[in-house]
Amino acid sequence: MTSAAPARPGTGAVELPMVVRQLRWEAAGVVSVELCAADGRDLPPWRPGAHVELVLPTGIARQYSLCGSPEDRSGYRIGVLRERASRGGSEYVHAFLRPGQPVRVRGPQDNFGFHPAPAYLFIAGGIGITPILPMVRQAAHQGVPWRLAYGGRAAASMAFLDELRPYQEQVWLYPEDRVGRIPLNEWLDQPRPGTAIYACGPEPLLAAVEDGAAHWEPGAVHLERFKARPKPALPNTEIEVVCARSNRTVTVPADRSVLSALEDEGLPVTGSCREGVCGTCETRVLEGVPEHRDDILSAEDRAVGDRMFPCVSRARGSRLVLDI
Ligand code: FES
Repeated sequence: MTSAAPARPGTGAVELPMVVRQLRWEAAGVVSVELCAADGRDLPPWRPGAHVELVLPTGIARQYSLCGSPEDRSGYRIGVLRERASRGGSEYVHAFLRPGQPVRVRGPQDNFGFHPAPAYLFIAGGIGITPILPMVRQAAHQGVPWRLAYGGRAAASMAFLDELRPYQEQVWLYPEDRVGRIPLNEWLDQPRPGTAIYACGPEPLLAAVEDGAAHWEPGAVHLERFKARPKPALPNTEIEVVCARSNRTVTVPADRSVLSALEDEGLPVTGSCREGVCGTCETRVLEGVPEHRDDILSAEDRAVGDRMFPCVSRARGSRLVLDI
Protein backbone atom coordinates (compact mmCIF):
# COMPACT_ATOMS: atom_id res chain seq x y z
CA MET A 1 0.00 0.00 0.00
CA THR A 2 1.28 3.46 -0.73
CA SER A 3 1.06 6.03 2.01
CA ALA A 4 0.73 9.09 -0.23
CA ALA A 5 -2.02 11.59 0.53
CA PRO A 6 -4.68 12.15 -2.12
CA ALA A 7 -3.18 14.10 -4.99
CA ARG A 8 -3.58 17.87 -4.95
CA PRO A 9 -3.00 20.23 -7.83
CA GLY A 10 0.59 21.21 -8.29
CA THR A 11 2.03 18.10 -6.72
CA GLY A 12 3.09 16.76 -10.10
CA ALA A 13 1.46 13.86 -11.84
CA VAL A 14 2.77 10.37 -11.18
CA GLU A 15 2.83 8.13 -14.27
CA LEU A 16 1.97 4.49 -13.73
CA PRO A 17 2.09 1.49 -16.08
CA MET A 18 -1.38 -0.02 -15.89
CA VAL A 19 -3.53 -2.60 -17.64
CA VAL A 20 -7.17 -2.61 -18.63
CA ARG A 21 -8.99 -4.87 -16.17
CA GLN A 22 -12.48 -4.64 -17.58
CA LEU A 23 -14.66 -2.74 -20.04
CA ARG A 24 -18.38 -2.43 -19.50
CA TRP A 25 -21.11 -0.95 -21.65
CA GLU A 26 -22.88 1.66 -19.49
CA ALA A 27 -25.22 3.43 -21.94
CA ALA A 28 -25.50 4.20 -25.64
CA GLY A 29 -22.06 5.51 -26.59
CA VAL A 30 -20.58 5.16 -23.09
CA VAL A 31 -18.24 2.48 -21.78
CA SER A 32 -16.60 2.32 -18.39
CA VAL A 33 -12.99 1.20 -18.24
CA GLU A 34 -11.44 -0.32 -15.14
CA LEU A 35 -7.69 0.01 -14.86
CA CYS A 36 -5.31 -1.59 -12.41
CA ALA A 37 -1.57 -1.37 -11.76
CA ALA A 38 0.49 -3.59 -14.06
CA ASP A 39 2.23 -5.03 -10.98
CA GLY A 40 -1.01 -5.40 -9.00
CA ARG A 41 -0.06 -2.83 -6.37
CA ASP A 42 -2.54 -0.49 -4.69
CA LEU A 43 -3.06 2.71 -6.64
CA PRO A 44 -2.49 6.25 -5.34
CA PRO A 45 -5.50 7.55 -3.39
CA TRP A 46 -7.92 10.09 -4.82
CA ARG A 47 -10.91 12.19 -3.83
CA PRO A 48 -14.27 12.55 -5.61
CA GLY A 49 -13.83 14.99 -8.51
CA ALA A 50 -10.27 13.84 -9.37
CA HIS A 51 -9.27 12.88 -12.89
CA VAL A 52 -6.48 10.88 -14.49
CA GLU A 53 -4.75 11.22 -17.82
CA LEU A 54 -4.94 8.07 -19.88
CA VAL A 55 -2.05 7.64 -22.32
CA LEU A 56 -3.18 5.25 -25.02
CA PRO A 57 -0.86 2.91 -26.96
CA THR A 58 -1.13 5.39 -29.87
CA GLY A 59 0.50 8.05 -27.66
CA ILE A 60 -2.72 10.07 -27.45
CA ALA A 61 -3.34 11.37 -23.91
CA ARG A 62 -6.81 12.27 -22.63
CA GLN A 63 -8.17 13.25 -19.24
CA TYR A 64 -11.04 11.32 -17.68
CA SER A 65 -12.76 11.79 -14.33
CA LEU A 66 -12.58 8.90 -11.89
CA CYS A 67 -16.05 7.48 -11.31
CA GLY A 68 -15.39 4.41 -9.17
CA SER A 69 -14.95 4.21 -5.43
CA PRO A 70 -12.01 5.95 -3.70
CA GLU A 71 -12.15 3.08 -1.18
CA ASP A 72 -11.14 0.58 -3.86
CA ARG A 73 -7.39 1.08 -4.17
CA SER A 74 -7.06 -1.93 -6.49
CA GLY A 75 -8.35 -0.09 -9.57
CA TYR A 76 -9.51 3.14 -11.16
CA ARG A 77 -12.72 3.39 -13.17
CA ILE A 78 -13.36 5.99 -15.87
CA GLY A 79 -16.36 6.56 -18.13
CA VAL A 80 -15.68 7.29 -21.80
CA LEU A 81 -18.19 8.79 -24.21
CA ARG A 82 -17.67 7.98 -27.87
CA GLU A 83 -17.43 11.52 -29.23
CA ARG A 84 -18.86 12.23 -32.64
CA ALA A 85 -15.92 14.52 -33.36
CA SER A 86 -13.35 12.26 -31.68
CA ARG A 87 -9.74 13.33 -32.17
CA GLY A 88 -8.66 9.73 -31.66
CA GLY A 89 -9.02 9.26 -27.89
CA SER A 90 -12.58 8.10 -27.27
CA GLU A 91 -12.68 6.39 -30.67
CA TYR A 92 -9.64 4.29 -29.75
CA VAL A 93 -11.06 3.40 -26.34
CA HIS A 94 -14.34 2.20 -27.85
CA ALA A 95 -12.94 0.46 -30.91
CA PHE A 96 -9.64 -1.01 -29.77
CA LEU A 97 -9.09 -0.97 -26.02
CA ARG A 98 -9.56 -4.44 -24.57
CA PRO A 99 -8.96 -6.19 -21.20
CA GLY A 100 -5.31 -7.01 -20.59
CA GLN A 101 -4.04 -4.19 -22.79
CA PRO A 102 -1.27 -2.05 -21.27
CA VAL A 103 -1.78 1.70 -20.94
CA ARG A 104 -0.07 4.46 -19.01
CA VAL A 105 -1.95 6.59 -16.53
CA ARG A 106 -0.86 9.94 -15.07
CA GLY A 107 -2.38 11.33 -11.93
CA PRO A 108 -4.75 11.37 -10.20
CA GLN A 109 -5.15 15.14 -10.19
CA ASP A 110 -7.85 17.03 -8.33
CA ASN A 111 -8.92 20.34 -9.84
CA PHE A 112 -12.62 20.10 -8.99
CA GLY A 113 -12.01 20.13 -5.22
CA PHE A 114 -14.94 18.45 -3.45
CA HIS A 115 -15.11 20.40 -0.20
CA PRO A 116 -17.22 19.71 2.88
CA ALA A 117 -20.48 21.68 2.84
CA PRO A 118 -23.74 21.60 4.84
CA ALA A 119 -25.64 20.55 1.67
CA TYR A 120 -25.00 19.92 -2.00
CA LEU A 121 -26.77 20.50 -5.27
CA PHE A 122 -25.22 18.36 -8.02
CA ILE A 123 -25.92 19.14 -11.68
CA ALA A 124 -24.70 16.75 -14.38
CA GLY A 125 -25.11 16.82 -18.13
CA GLY A 126 -24.34 13.68 -20.16
CA ILE A 127 -20.90 12.24 -19.46
CA GLY A 128 -20.51 15.00 -16.84
CA ILE A 129 -22.06 12.49 -14.44
CA THR A 130 -18.64 10.81 -14.06
CA PRO A 131 -17.02 13.15 -11.49
CA ILE A 132 -20.39 13.73 -9.82
CA LEU A 133 -21.08 10.05 -9.14
CA PRO A 134 -18.38 9.59 -6.43
CA MET A 135 -19.46 12.93 -4.89
CA VAL A 136 -23.03 11.66 -4.66
CA ARG A 137 -21.88 8.47 -2.98
CA GLN A 138 -19.71 10.34 -0.51
CA ALA A 139 -22.46 12.83 0.37
CA ALA A 140 -24.90 9.94 0.84
CA HIS A 141 -22.39 8.02 2.94
CA GLN A 142 -21.76 11.05 5.16
CA GLY A 143 -25.48 11.77 5.57
CA VAL A 144 -25.13 15.28 4.10
CA PRO A 145 -28.34 16.51 2.38
CA TRP A 146 -27.96 16.50 -1.39
CA ARG A 147 -29.94 16.49 -4.62
CA LEU A 148 -28.90 15.67 -8.16
CA ALA A 149 -30.33 17.03 -11.41
CA TYR A 150 -29.02 14.80 -14.21
CA GLY A 151 -29.81 15.49 -17.87
CA GLY A 152 -28.97 13.70 -21.10
CA ARG A 153 -30.16 13.43 -24.69
CA ALA A 154 -32.21 10.32 -23.92
CA ALA A 155 -32.46 7.85 -21.04
CA ALA A 156 -30.62 5.25 -23.12
CA SER A 157 -27.58 7.52 -23.37
CA MET A 158 -27.46 8.39 -19.66
CA ALA A 159 -24.77 6.32 -17.95
CA PHE A 160 -24.83 4.89 -14.43
CA LEU A 161 -28.61 5.11 -13.94
CA ASP A 162 -28.52 1.72 -12.24
CA GLU A 163 -25.98 3.00 -9.71
CA LEU A 164 -28.19 6.01 -8.95
CA ARG A 165 -31.29 3.87 -8.42
CA PRO A 166 -30.75 3.49 -4.63
CA TYR A 167 -31.00 7.28 -4.35
CA GLN A 168 -34.28 7.76 -6.20
CA GLU A 169 -35.58 10.27 -3.65
CA GLN A 170 -32.71 12.66 -4.27
CA VAL A 171 -32.21 12.21 -8.02
CA TRP A 172 -34.15 14.06 -10.74
CA LEU A 173 -33.60 12.72 -14.25
CA TYR A 174 -34.10 14.81 -17.38
CA PRO A 175 -33.89 12.76 -20.58
CA GLU A 176 -34.23 15.59 -23.07
CA ASP A 177 -36.25 13.64 -25.65
CA ARG A 178 -38.99 13.07 -23.07
CA VAL A 179 -38.98 15.93 -20.57
CA GLY A 180 -36.67 18.56 -22.04
CA ARG A 181 -33.55 20.07 -20.51
CA ILE A 182 -32.82 20.50 -16.81
CA PRO A 183 -35.01 23.47 -15.75
CA LEU A 184 -32.15 25.41 -14.21
CA ASN A 185 -34.35 28.37 -13.40
CA GLU A 186 -36.36 26.14 -11.05
CA TRP A 187 -33.26 24.68 -9.46
CA LEU A 188 -31.35 27.92 -9.08
CA ASP A 189 -33.93 30.69 -8.65
CA GLN A 190 -33.93 30.42 -4.89
CA PRO A 191 -30.38 30.66 -3.42
CA ARG A 192 -29.82 28.21 -0.60
CA PRO A 193 -27.25 29.55 1.87
CA GLY A 194 -24.69 26.87 2.73
CA THR A 195 -25.48 24.71 -0.29
CA ALA A 196 -22.53 24.06 -2.59
CA ILE A 197 -23.29 23.53 -6.27
CA TYR A 198 -21.09 21.04 -8.14
CA ALA A 199 -21.74 20.86 -11.87
CA CYS A 200 -20.13 19.08 -14.81
CA GLY A 201 -21.26 18.73 -18.40
CA PRO A 202 -21.21 20.47 -21.76
CA GLU A 203 -20.22 24.13 -21.92
CA PRO A 204 -23.75 25.52 -22.55
CA LEU A 205 -24.99 23.78 -19.38
CA LEU A 206 -22.08 25.08 -17.29
CA ALA A 207 -22.45 28.61 -18.64
CA ALA A 208 -26.17 28.46 -17.77
CA VAL A 209 -25.37 27.22 -14.25
CA GLU A 210 -22.91 30.09 -13.75
CA ASP A 211 -25.46 32.62 -14.98
CA GLY A 212 -28.37 31.08 -13.12
CA ALA A 213 -26.49 30.94 -9.81
CA ALA A 214 -24.87 34.37 -10.09
CA HIS A 215 -27.04 35.57 -7.19
CA TRP A 216 -25.97 32.69 -4.90
CA GLU A 217 -23.37 33.37 -2.23
CA PRO A 218 -19.77 33.81 -3.49
CA GLY A 219 -17.93 30.54 -3.89
CA ALA A 220 -21.11 28.44 -4.02
CA VAL A 221 -20.57 27.23 -7.58
CA HIS A 222 -17.92 24.67 -8.51
CA LEU A 223 -17.59 23.61 -12.14
CA GLU A 224 -15.47 21.06 -13.99
CA ARG A 225 -14.91 21.78 -17.67
CA PHE A 226 -13.81 19.22 -20.25
CA LYS A 227 -12.87 21.91 -22.74
CA ALA A 228 -11.78 25.52 -22.50
CA ARG A 229 -14.53 28.15 -22.56
CA PRO A 230 -14.68 30.11 -25.79
CA LYS A 231 -12.87 33.38 -25.09
CA PRO A 232 -11.97 36.45 -27.12
CA ALA A 233 -8.31 36.61 -28.18
CA LEU A 234 -6.43 38.72 -25.65
CA PRO A 235 -3.45 40.94 -26.50
CA ASN A 236 -0.11 39.57 -25.33
CA THR A 237 3.10 41.35 -24.49
CA GLU A 238 6.60 40.04 -23.95
CA ILE A 239 7.25 39.09 -20.33
CA GLU A 240 10.20 37.99 -18.27
CA VAL A 241 9.86 34.81 -16.24
CA VAL A 242 12.32 34.07 -13.47
CA CYS A 243 12.52 30.35 -12.60
CA ALA A 244 13.65 30.64 -9.00
CA ARG A 245 14.64 27.03 -8.28
CA SER A 246 16.47 26.62 -11.58
CA ASN A 247 18.08 30.06 -11.26
CA ARG A 248 17.20 30.88 -14.87
CA THR A 249 15.41 33.83 -16.48
CA VAL A 250 13.47 33.34 -19.71
CA THR A 251 12.04 36.00 -21.98
CA VAL A 252 8.61 34.86 -23.19
CA PRO A 253 7.76 36.47 -26.53
CA ALA A 254 4.24 37.81 -27.11
CA ASP A 255 3.43 34.98 -29.51
CA ARG A 256 4.47 32.10 -27.21
CA SER A 257 2.89 30.68 -24.09
CA VAL A 258 4.91 30.75 -20.88
CA LEU A 259 4.81 26.94 -20.83
CA SER A 260 6.18 26.46 -24.33
CA ALA A 261 8.90 29.09 -23.82
CA LEU A 262 10.04 27.32 -20.64
CA GLU A 263 9.91 23.92 -22.38
CA ASP A 264 12.11 25.26 -25.17
CA GLU A 265 14.68 26.22 -22.57
CA GLY A 266 14.66 22.69 -21.12
CA LEU A 267 13.12 23.75 -17.81
CA PRO A 268 11.26 21.12 -15.73
CA VAL A 269 7.65 21.87 -16.70
CA THR A 270 4.92 19.60 -18.01
CA GLY A 271 1.68 20.19 -19.87
CA SER A 272 -1.09 18.15 -21.37
CA CYS A 273 -4.28 19.92 -22.51
CA ARG A 274 -2.48 23.24 -23.16
CA GLU A 275 -5.77 25.07 -22.88
CA GLY A 276 -6.07 25.71 -19.14
CA VAL A 277 -8.40 22.84 -18.32
CA CYS A 278 -6.47 19.79 -17.04
CA GLY A 279 -4.29 21.35 -14.34
CA THR A 280 -1.14 19.42 -15.28
CA CYS A 281 1.03 22.53 -15.69
CA GLU A 282 0.07 24.14 -12.38
CA THR A 283 2.90 26.27 -11.03
CA ARG A 284 3.42 28.24 -7.82
CA VAL A 285 3.83 31.99 -8.23
CA LEU A 286 6.44 33.50 -5.93
CA GLU A 287 6.35 37.12 -7.16
CA GLY A 288 4.34 39.13 -9.65
CA VAL A 289 0.66 39.13 -10.50
CA PRO A 290 -0.56 36.44 -12.89
CA GLU A 291 -3.15 37.19 -15.53
CA HIS A 292 -5.30 34.09 -15.23
CA ARG A 293 -6.78 32.71 -18.45
CA ASP A 294 -7.51 29.15 -17.30
CA ASP A 295 -10.86 27.45 -16.69
CA ILE A 296 -9.88 25.89 -13.37
CA LEU A 297 -9.35 28.50 -10.68
CA SER A 298 -12.30 30.07 -8.89
CA ALA A 299 -12.55 33.83 -8.37
CA GLU A 300 -11.37 33.24 -4.79
CA ASP A 301 -8.33 31.23 -5.95
CA ARG A 302 -7.47 33.94 -8.45
CA ALA A 303 -7.62 36.61 -5.79
CA VAL A 304 -4.99 34.70 -3.78
CA GLY A 305 -2.74 34.67 -6.87
CA ASP A 306 -0.27 32.08 -5.59
CA ARG A 307 -0.59 29.62 -8.48
CA MET A 308 -1.14 29.75 -12.21
CA PHE A 309 -1.40 27.60 -15.32
CA PRO A 310 1.38 28.74 -17.66
CA CYS A 311 -0.04 26.97 -20.73
CA VAL A 312 -2.50 29.87 -21.06
CA SER A 313 -1.94 32.40 -18.27
CA ARG A 314 0.50 35.28 -18.42
CA ALA A 315 1.41 38.28 -16.22
CA ARG A 316 -0.35 41.51 -15.35
CA GLY A 317 3.03 43.27 -15.28
CA SER A 318 6.19 42.46 -17.20
CA ARG A 319 7.73 39.96 -14.78
CA LEU A 320 6.83 36.81 -12.86
CA VAL A 321 8.90 34.73 -10.47
CA LEU A 322 7.81 31.09 -10.57
CA ASP A 323 8.70 28.12 -8.37
CA ILE A 324 10.38 26.18 -11.17
S1 FES B 1 -1.54 21.93 -19.64
FE1 FES B 1 -3.60 21.60 -18.98
S2 FES B 1 -3.94 23.30 -17.65
FE2 FES B 1 -1.99 23.71 -18.50
